[in-house]
Amino acid sequence: MTDPTPHLIRTSRDGDVLILTIDNPPVNAFSPGVPEGLKAGLDAAATDDTVRAVVIIGGGRTFIAGADIRTFNLPREQAPDLRGTIAKLDAFPKPTVAALHGTALGGGFELALGCTYRVATPGAKVGLPEVKLGLLPGAGGTQRLPRVVGVKKALDLILSGTPVGAAPARDLGLIDEIVEGDLLTGAVAFARRVADVRPLPRISERPAQPDPEAIEAARQSIRKTHRGQLSPQFIVDLVDLATRTPFNEGHAEEGVKFVQAKDSPQSRGMRHMFFAEREAAKIPGLDKTTPTTDIRRVGVIGAGTMGGGIAMNFLNAGIPVTIVETAQENLDRGLNTIRKTYEASAAKGRLKLEDVQKRLDLLTPTLSMNDLGDADLIIEAVFEDMAVKKDIFTRLDAVAKPGAILATNTSTLDVGEIAAVTSRPEQVIGLHFFSPANIMKLLEIVRADRTSDSVLATSLKLSRTIGKVGVVVGVCNGFVGNRMLYAYREQASKAVLEGATPQAVDAAMNALGLPMGPYAMSDMAGLDIGYMARRAAAERAGQPMPDDWVDRVVQLGRKGQKTGAGVYDYPDGSRTPVPSPAVDDLIQAYRAEKGVQPREATQDDLIARLTATLANEGARILEEGIALRASDIDTIYTYGYGFPAYRGGPMHYASEQGLTTVVQTLERHGLEVAPLLRRLAQEGKTFAQYDAERAKSQT
Ligand code: COA
Repeated sequence: MTDPTPHLIRTSRDGDVLILTIDNPPVNAFSPGVPEGLKAGLDAAATDDTVRAVVIIGGGRTFIAGADIRTFNLPREQAPDLRGTIAKLDAFPKPTVAALHGTALGGGFELALGCTYRVATPGAKVGLPEVKLGLLPGAGGTQRLPRVVGVKKALDLILSGTPVGAAPARDLGLIDEIVEGDLLTGAVAFARRVADVRPLPRISERPAQPDPEAIEAARQSIRKTHRGQLSPQFIVDLVDLATRTPFNEGHAEEGVKFVQAKDSPQSRGMRHMFFAEREAAKIPGLDKTTPTTDIRRVGVIGAGTMGGGIAMNFLNAGIPVTIVETAQENLDRGLNTIRKTYEASAAKGRLKLEDVQKRLDLLTPTLSMNDLGDADLIIEAVFEDMAVKKDIFTRLDAVAKPGAILATNTSTLDVGEIAAVTSRPEQVIGLHFFSPANIMKLLEIVRADRTSDSVLATSLKLSRTIGKVGVVVGVCNGFVGNRMLYAYREQASKAVLEGATPQAVDAAMNALGLPMGPYAMSDMAGLDIGYMARRAAAERAGQPMPDDWVDRVVQLGRKGQKTGAGVYDYPDGSRTPVPSPAVDDLIQAYRAEKGVQPREATQDDLIARLTATLANEGARILEEGIALRASDIDTIYTYGYGFPAYRGGPMHYASEQGLTTVVQTLERHGLEVAPLLRRLAQEGKTFAQYDAERAKSQT
């Protein structure tokens, strides 16, 4: 028989059951060619009397993992017709069975919900993660899900975007049967069993029960969980609508809202982040076959906040850790913090009590670096002092086994200079974790001039093992993230000098979507930390420390939340910043001393100024080759510094504003424009185009 579906679908027969296999590696995304193939297969099956039922299954590692995210940028007429395909399934006169394995996500799961029945392997997962891309399930998901699981559960699933396993999905009625053994065999047998069922049980024909309380609760909660985002609001409206209108009306409205969400800058930003995160793992010139080292045991030097947090990453991944301190007291304190953090997770139900002990059992405390001889990776996490780090690396060189990776968690210092004190600089790398290190997803992987490819490849692999997003950066003061943060803070300080209040600056960044503005953040981290880092950097550069009103706040003994006062007051141990009259006076005196007449700045101008500063510094970082691509900078700033994913990171955000506008903002504030930024603006390009052109020239 000739194949009637030449596209990305393979057609086969098992007696009276037609099997349509989606064949679009790696994840069977719903790309052009998939709907054409499915529709052709269904058309053929509809008119063929020897076909009594149809099974749809994914080839390779998964069922359809969703719409093809790349096609969202296509004009509508070229976009693959997912809704039309599901409509065809819904109207199909014979039973259709979706056979699920791997991850049936987004449009893939919606297509399954459009089938008459769903069967799955025990390991399959189903879910509607569109909200994570600033979208909503646009192919019936918001209308069908409440018809199966009710409003409350539907909202939980769609607003969290978190997939559920086959067993809970079966309990919810989303899956009809779990197939032990071969999925296709089980699915065909199931199809044969239901082949004569009539009328066909279509989800679209079921009623959805109203649940105004759940709707109201969701409206309240998304204000906090999805602050400033558009698509969660649409989702709540649409799920509500499912209970109040016939399927077709709700479905039509869902289509309209989907296009609005898809065309919004928020979704563009989140889609950009999806690919940016995956792109970061690809290093030009680093061969995929580069050998990596198995990391079976890790050493951590320093049991302070950073060292303890870093150790927990490996304990969580089941990798034993030896942690070293200089004094028993510090070691005890560090261990206690780790234990307490785990116990707090257990109390919140995030960890089982027996797992707390399992993790602690993997931890070996010691006061001697000599105990690190069997570690495959040793991470130094002591305070930022070049002399101290050099001393540690000299000693490490003597105790570490050959082939061990020696890493520093420095956030500012020259990794190459640290490496140079060892006899094996090619084994040395920077692994810059972000506080709290057991939680923050970013890992800056700092490649020094002599770091070997194998050490780099191992570090990238390791970042995935411990659930981090690893981004490779080069050496400079502050690497990518902190260097941008310094420029941003300096500009914030200038904005205050010129007339803005610290709270107006923080409010502007809040309005942009950052959880905290620069002053609330510095107060939380400790205002003295930035002060000391700036002083050390100035000393290293042999320059006087630039004058800044924030340093005068520190000089008053106001070091942030920990002293009950920083840029803000924190009365009675509270963590809520309250504007401080004392700091207000200090700022006014500072302005008078500098002869500055304060001028008010609008919120929009503060946002434009601070985001333009980030993009400008990012452009310099790109020019210097410290970051490989603009999208890497976006990944760093989003995962490490709270820049909202729905803005797509500072470089993407600048491109969305238009780089000419960004240049104008910088000039208006008397800032020197990075040559790369100026060139791209003149050529009318975006940072994404810059990345694409560079990638092309590297292949
Ligand atoms: N559209 C287009 N490309 C997709 C895709 C999609 N829906 N899902 C995954 N890909 C691509 C990735 O970009 C990656 O490409 P690369 O190898 O060129 O970098 C490749 O498929 C593998 O994806 P990856 O995420 O690295 O694999 P994984 O095994 O860790 O995870 C998934 C697989 C399916 C769980 C994960 O890719 C995912 O969550 N995808 C998005 C699902 C989704 O949101 N669907 C709804 C869309 S509206």
